[in-house]
Amino acid sequence: MARQRILSGIQPTGDLHLGNYLGALRNWVDLQKDYDCFLFMADLHAITVPHDPTVLAENTYKTAAIYLAAGIDVDTVSTIFVQSHVTAHSELGWLLTCITPLNWLQDMVQFKEKAIRQGEKVGAGLLCYPALQAADILLYEPDKVPVGEDQKQHLELTRDITIRMNDQFGTPDDPVLKMPEPMIRKEGARIMSLTDGSKKMSKSDPSDLSRINLLDPPELIQKKVKKCKTDPARGLEFDNPDRPECHNLLSLYMLMSNQTKKAVAEECREMGWGQFKPLLAETIVEGLRPIQEKYHEIRGDEGYLESVLQRGQEKANAIAHQTLSKVKQAMGYTIPS
Ligand code: TYM
Repeated sequence: MARQRILSGIQPTGDLHLGNYLGALRNWVDLQKDYDCFLFMADLHAITVPHDPTVLAENTYKTAAIYLAAGIDVDTVSTIFVQSHVTAHSELGWLLTCITPLNWLQDMVQFKEKAIRQGEKVGAGLLCYPALQAADILLYEPDKVPVGEDQKQHLELTRDITIRMNDQFGTPDDPVLKMPEPMIRKEGARIMSLTDGSKKMSKSDPSDLSRINLLDPPELIQKKVKKCKTDPARGLEFDNPDRPECHNLLSLYMLMSNQTKKAVAEECREMGWGQFKPLLAETIVEGLRPIQEKYHEIRGDEGYLESVLQRGQEKANAIAHQTLSKVKQAMGYTIPS
């Protein structure tokens, strides 16, 4: 039986952080055992908020190198590509934008949050972005789409757009698009900010102290952990709604040390912050060390990275082009021979 396929991506805006790693990238690495993986850098999404053209390409390369350094294996089961290198994304994105009701897009929480931050300058791309995300997914007919919790609503929208396309332009026996399934793991799906345990860790938080970036040097990781928000209660525990920071920091320790929740709860029950913080910092530093070393090795050979992205573009393009042609035909376009 053919192996099933997963598809996912990360926006190359700023540095990838522990939320991106534990909510997405690390799961992709594991999933390679069972799935063929199509993983991309969502650079078309990166311009839905004001962006700096002098760093866009660098951030895209950086993200690709981090995928490889974390263990994405492009020699066997995985394909890494740049979204803008496969033009079918923009094209299907437009076709899906046209069949998506405006109020579906206006209901997206991420749109509302980011739009508020931008005020009157908000671009229409920020609103239409989830239809492009639906195109990113549907082009590759994946079986599963592994993401963090914050992408759940976009995945539900993708499923609604699929139903709409199939109802309007397909038949029950011959649907135009394949229905994708989200895959959201419980552990790591929502890593919170280091400065506020009620907000998710995010690239767009103005304070760099709120997150640990995958390429932060050890001294900076130690500083961020030392300064992170805690509480005055004694002893450390999971799942106390009055102690969101405590739950988040214990979860980070559990995930980065690859221990069970039970083992961590027992180990840390009697600890104070003064004992726990250095332990957490050291665990994160050691967990990220091999990724950082590999990252610098990969960045030392830009020719290799170029060749990975070139191969990725060719493989992704072949699949994406087929799906796009099918949709265009179903919608009544002529296809030049
Ligand atoms: P982005 O770039 O914001 O995040 C990339 C991945 O990281 C996960 N993530 C988190 N997981 C746990 N805790 C956090 N604090 C945290 N922050 C981010 C996200 O859930 C995501 O899985 N729109 C997407 C990119 C995208 C995409 C796609 C994803 C574009 N097209 C198609 C999947 C399929 C985004 O902005 O993710």
